[in-house]
Formats: sequence, structure tokens, C-alpha cells
Amino acid sequence: MANTGVSTESLGGEVKQSFSGKKFRVAFIGCGGISGTHIKALQKMPDVEIVAGCDIKAERLAWFTEETRCTNVFTKWDDMLKKVEIDGVSVCTPNGLHAPAAIAASNAGCHVLTEKPMAMTPKECQKMIDAAKKAKKKIVIGFQYRYHPNTQIIKRAVDEGILGDIKFVKCQALRRRGIPNWGVFGQKELQGGGPMIDIGVHVIEMAHYAMGAPRPIAASGNTWTYMGNKPSQVVSQWPGWDWKTYTVEDLAIGQIRFENGAIMQIEASFAGHIEKDIWDFTMVGDKGGARWETASIFTDRAGTMVNCSPAFVPSGDFNMMFFTKLRNWIDGCTKHTPLTAPGEAGLAVQKILDGVYRSADAGKEVKID
Ligand SMILES: NC(=O)c1ccc[n+]([C@@H]2O[C@H](COP(=O)([O-])OP(=O)(O)OC[C@H]3O[C@@H](n4cnc5c(N)ncnc54)[C@H](O)[C@@H]3O)[C@@H](O)[C@H]2O)c1
Repeated sequence: MANTGVSTESLGGEVKQSFSGKKFRVAFIGCGGISGTHIKALQKMPDVEIVAGCDIKAERLAWFTEETRCTNVFTKWDDMLKKVEIDGVSVCTPNGLHAPAAIAASNAGCHVLTEKPMAMTPKECQKMIDAAKKAKKKIVIGFQYRYHPNTQIIKRAVDEGILGDIKFVKCQALRRRGIPNWGVFGQKELQGGGPMIDIGVHVIEMAHYAMGAPRPIAASGNTWTYMGNKPSQVVSQWPGWDWKTYTVEDLAIGQIRFENGAIMQIEASFAGHIEKDIWDFTMVGDKGGARWETASIFTDRAGTMVNCSPAFVPSGDFNMMFFTKLRNWIDGCTKHTPLTAPGEAGLAVQKILDGVYRSADAGKEVKID
């Protein structure tokens, strides 16, 4: 865990924490599903106080108050930003509102963490970065998978040169039948797209980070919708999605060319006729390779091809990843420690997503600026 500046005392497996000083005051824009995971993580931090919440739905605000005991609730973020003293805003709205909410928070002098994807387009991301810079505040993207132990294992191997120059990365975020049946995940105008921008983004962000964040220069890809926009009687994990408003893709395949010649292939689906779901990336370099799911490194040693597996991998559960990503944001804001997923990382990933979608629309390879 990063140095939090909080004194911790281990007591028979329990960790007792104390903090004396000014707490970091966090407010939420968007109090839906994922804000609950943020709240759970923040409640474990003695140097953090949740001070306000904003949502357009009364029932979500009632839920927020129940979870946090915080009664400072608003239906308009401008009102909240005006009336409450806030250090940092966590933006947990649908994707289409990330940019306006984050920019309003920066303009109000707050640090920002915005959930993934950073926004809908690279242009919006740039505006968010500019607003934070102008306010002299931080902006961080909720890319928790780069904190996952398996990503860290591979990143360290890349940094030590064990893989050599990375030539090829394959990213897979594939669901056989997993069209979200809540929220607005099927509505392109509010989300920007389907599985590529919603779940492909996770695997792209961790792979791009692990490979050393090369600059994307071209994209080629396609998207298809064949299932989500029709009613279905097939038994599946999330049945009954809103097929009438479904305007995003079911399957997206993309290929990215980086400035250094490396290629990233991306496969993302909400619905695809595959044997089982896949959440993984594999990486091939000129000295070694790696696989995320097993945290394995493949290389040559003493005249032998070896597959190396870690003898110990720390826990990488969802709550741990969220705790670490929020801790990194808050420490970056309060102690100026390095940010693992700054706005620039969000922009680079957005250029990859946007490139695949633009190429699908154009029917040919497109340049990425
Ligand atoms: N990092 C992750 O693993 C992860 C997981 C799930 C979702 N997310 C991201 O988090 C965001 C929210 O997803 P969710 O699953 O919580 O969706 P959700 O639909 O459950 O929550 C979104 C909330 O935003 C509220 N909202 C809509 N318009 C608003 C406005 N103008 N002002 C204030 N609130 C408004 C909605 O009423 C809703 O309560 C999305 O961008 C999604 O991609 C990230």
C-alpha cells in the first residue's frame, strides 16, 4: 500500500488507524452503482470525509445518505460545488457526463477523480486536463486494473527488461452474454459505445500501462450489433436488458499501431458466441512474453524455454483495487506523490478507443494524432 501518512497499528490481524489533522473532503457527482465501491473504500480511510452527494434521482440520494450518514445532497452539481467546501470530487455518472462534471469541479477549485472511461472523446479529455491545469488541481482516471497485482508483476518484468522490446499485445474483454441490464450502458449517446469503451477500456488501460505507454498513431477495426437490439429468451446472467434503447455494439475488434512499431489487438464483447468469458492480455517481446490472467512470464534461461509463475501473488480483489486507486488520488492531491493514472493516461487510452470507433465508421485504417 502507498504511504498514506496515516498511522497504522497492527493488532492481531486487525489494523487500527488514527488521524489527526484536516481531512480530505470528498463529494460525489453520480451516486449510482459504482459510487458504492468508492464509498466503501473511502470509509476505510481515517483522513477522508465524505461531505456531499449529487444525483438526479431522489432514491439514489436517499441511498447515499443511508450509506454515508451525509445529508448534504443535491440534484445539480453546480449547487453542490457552490454550497459545500470540497477538496476532491469523484465523478461516477454515465460516461457522457464525465467531461462536464469534471470540468465544473475543476473550475470550482476541486481535485477530480473520474470513473472510466475518462470521457466520450479525446477532445473532451483534453478539455478536462486543461481545466484541471488551469485550476492547479489534479485529475485522475479510475483505472483500477493497473493496480492489480498481476499487472504490477508484468509491469515490473517489462521495466527490468525481461521481456525486451514489446512487439505485440492482445487484449481480451469478452463476455459470452453480458449485456448490462441496468443503467444506460446500451445507449450510445450517453455512453459513447458498448463493450469497447465499457470493458475493453479496462484491459487496454492495464496493458498500455504495463507495456510502457507507447504513443498510438493509427487504428483499424470494426464493430457489430446483432443481439442487443433484439428481445431474447435465452437464459443468461443479466437477462432482460433494454433492447429497445440499445444502440451500442455487441462486439468490437480493433488493432492499434504505436509509434515504436508495436501492435495492440483488442477484442471486446457484451455478447459473442465464444466458449466462455475471457478477461486477459498477453504480451510478446523480443526477449520474453507474459500472460496477465496467470501472471506468467515466458522466456529463455540457460538454454531452456521457461514458463515462470510467481510463488506469491497478493490479493487483487475489486475492493482492494478501488482502495488503492482512491488512495493514490488522495495522496497525489495532499502529498504530491506520483499519480498512477493521471489525465494524460486517460487521454492516451481514449485515443485508442476513439481510433477503433472512427475506423469502424470509416471502414478503413485511421490516423491517431
Ligand atoms: N471502474 C470500474 O470498474 C467501474 C465499474 C462500473 C462502472 N464504472 C463507471 O462508472 C460510471 C457510472 O457507472 P454505474 O455502474 O455506477 O452506473 P449507474 O447508472 O448505476 O450510476 C450512474 C448514476 O449517475 C446519475 N446521474 C445521471 N445524470 C446525472 C447528473 N446530471 N447529475 C448527477 N448524477 C447523474 C444516475 O442517476 C445514476 O445514479 C460509468 O462511467 C461507468 O463506466 C466503472
